[in-house]
Amino acid sequence: MTALLDAAPVADTTAARPLRAAALRVLFTNWTGTGTVPSRSLYPHQWSWDSAFIAIGLRHLSPRRAQRELESLMSAQWADGRVPHIVFNPCVPAGQYFPGSDFWRSATAGAAAGAPAAPLTSGIIQPPVHALAAALVHEADPAESARRGFLARLHPRLEAWHRYLAERRDLGGHGLAAVVHPWEPGLDNSPAWDTALHRVVPAEACSFRRADLDHSAAADRPTDLDYARYVRLARDYRDAGYDDTKTEFAFAVEDPGFNALLIAAEHALAGIAEQTGADPGPARARAAALTRALSTRLWNPDLGMFSARDLHDDTLVPVRGVTGLLPLIVPGLPADQVNALLEATSGEHFRLGEVHLVPSYDLTGPEFDPNRYWRGPSWFNTAWMLHRGLRAVGADGAADRLRQGILRDAAATGFAEYLDPHTGAGRGVRDFSWTASLALDLLATGPKEER
Ligand code: SER
Repeated sequence: MTALLDAAPVADTTAARPLRAAALRVLFTNWTGTGTVPSRSLYPHQWSWDSAFIAIGLRHLSPRRAQRELESLMSAQWADGRVPHIVFNPCVPAGQYFPGSDFWRSATAGAAAGAPAAPLTSGIIQPPVHALAAALVHEADPAESARRGFLARLHPRLEAWHRYLAERRDLGGHGLAAVVHPWEPGLDNSPAWDTALHRVVPAEACSFRRADLDHSAAADRPTDLDYARYVRLARDYRDAGYDDTKTEFAFAVEDPGFNALLIAAEHALAGIAEQTGADPGPARARAAALTRALSTRLWNPDLGMFSARDLHDDTLVPVRGVTGLLPLIVPGLPADQVNALLEATSGEHFRLGEVHLVPSYDLTGPEFDPNRYWRGPSWFNTAWMLHRGLRAVGADGAADRLRQGILRDAAATGFAEYLDPHTGAGRGVRDFSWTASLALDLLATGPKEER
């Protein structure tokens, strides 16, 4: 690990030019004309939280294109306010991705919940990073944003999205948004979901065919049994018309990362409301209530960090996952929780500064696997969020080192989807869009001393 610490930093001037050029190439290659695919091979449609992270980087290349990225995603919003986690591109052959539009059947099964007739979408959601992304995109070129009425057009959609989460997804009744599928918090096969997921009766193995293994190594991906449970949960939700009041959710969890991002997004939305002459009050009130609920309901004193709450038996899940660190991005978190989170990031479970980026799961945990999707590998988006949190609480030294790590590992792995935290070896696919866009963002915004 000392080699990692001693490695020469990616300079922020001339030496960074090839990295910037390579990141731009990835974003050009993955642009479809209205949005950006996460990966041409593994994820050939538009994904919700990917698009938000992509827009954050695209704003440095073309603020207008970054606006279109978010606009095209939000145009697939359902009438009940949900932003679906996938917007399908009809030009991509069926079978290249599973579960495809013929599985989700949004236009028919989702009609009563307000799915549009077109485009076709999935019926589940992903973390609400969109208002934060919209605010950052606006800041990149306020004049162009104002000329196109970007914030004014997006504000009602973002408000409806956040209202959906507050009104339809507070399944625990304590003011936090719940997720009803392990794909919704974005960390599909995290060990944090194991207990809840193991209660789910898997779908029959012969009832579906995975497409992900055509593009990525099986050892880097969730198992077949995980997939059978994902399919079962999605199928049951679909067959209940994606109705949040009628579905008997076999999986329902409050995730600290999802809710922390929602709080950051509510603050951003309040700022957007002010810019557009709308009332910032509702977003501010939701941010305050969510912050109180997060810091009481998801703080795990036994772990010294946040953890998920399983709504099946209303208990905290005794698992250290990276989403338990993300509340560092929440403004106004109690100081003792901030200090404990800073200790947790550098302690033996995550070893910030000693391993590559931030592992997705406890390095000492019994389920730790350095290769398999969200069961150990480090991801660039969680590192970017943690960088933002460290910066927000004034931990600039740690933030600068993490920033350097993100730039170095993005370059060294060819913009890998994720990497082994011990060796830094890339895992999953390469030329991954949010890896390129978030590297671009950090190149453009510079370390502390340049601010
Ligand atoms: N992450 C899931 C997949 O691998 C779904 O969004 O397809």
